[in-house]
Amino acid sequence: SKLKTIIQGIPKAELHLHLEGSFEPELMFEIAKRNNINLPYDSIESVKEAYRFNNLQEFLDIYYAGAQVLLHEQDFFDLTWAYLTKVHSENVKHAEVFFDPQTHTERGVAFDVVINGIHRALEKGKNELNISYKLIMSYLRHLTEDAAFNTLESSIPFKEIIDGVGLDSSEMGNPPSKFKKVFKASAEHGYKLVAHAGEEGPAEYIWEALDILNVERIDHGNRCLTNEALIKRLVNEKIALTLCPTSNVALKVIQKMDEHPVAKMLDKGILATIHSDDPAYFGGYMNENYYQTAKALNLSLEQIEQLAINAFEASWLSKASKERHI
Ligand code: ADE
Ligand code: ZN
Repeated sequence: SKLKTIIQGIPKAELHLHLEGSFEPELMFEIAKRNNINLPYDSIESVKEAYRFNNLQEFLDIYYAGAQVLLHEQDFFDLTWAYLTKVHSENVKHAEVFFDPQTHTERGVAFDVVINGIHRALEKGKNELNISYKLIMSYLRHLTEDAAFNTLESSIPFKEIIDGVGLDSSEMGNPPSKFKKVFKASAEHGYKLVAHAGEEGPAEYIWEALDILNVERIDHGNRCLTNEALIKRLVNEKIALTLCPTSNVALKVIQKMDEHPVAKMLDKGILATIHSDDPAYFGGYMNENYYQTAKALNLSLEQIEQLAINAFEASWLSKASKERHI
């Protein structure tokens, strides 16, 4: 369609992507086989059958199970390289990607195995696909703050290749304030700060992420529209919300795409951006997220372009690099 052609043609920046969430079933089977691990699925079809979720936690249980087949540096390389070649075909020029070290270190895979595989693929993508990148280490919020401190410590030898830290996993009952000290320590090591907030959790968690963790972007943030003072803050301080529309539908954060808050957010002047979160699980990379949103909300060409510009604006690229893309 014409809309799809337009979206394909727009240079895009991805700011909210979990590498473990880009693990396609085909690659999962291949890596499971070479690592002699049995998957609880007997076919690609039965995997896809299992990918029906009623909430965030149902997804997370399956996402963490899938990541268990990743053991060796080559596995992390292959995962990251598959993502990069995919989004290269979608005209993505810049990617700021999350990885969850604790998902791997908790089961005995060393931090350096994980990051070396990811980093080698990101460098190859920069050199061969012309995709610039930033790497974000995410703390798992269902674990303790002490566990996050251990992860911070493991990351220090690699701090030159890690640009920021994030906060993800089960939101309800794990407010940002639980991670106050480790976010402060992370900033002191030079890391930039982001956090998932207001996906399933209330607007209060977005306030906490801003006031207590001092993050510069909010991942998701859907729930901000319930709070006028928060909207003002986001607009005045140009705090980006990295929204993930197909994820929101898949996890029933919203019931239908035409309920997505992104159009209202743009109207209010919020620096809203669109991304793919866990595309292998939710069935849509960048273009599909733009397309489904644009179609359901009847976005104008200007609004679609604004979303793409906002993403470069909210990225951690230098001013000169941003200007080259916008
Ligand atoms: N980890 C991977 N995807 C996530 C999401 N959408 N919310 C919280 N944690 C996640
Ligand atoms: Zn996410």
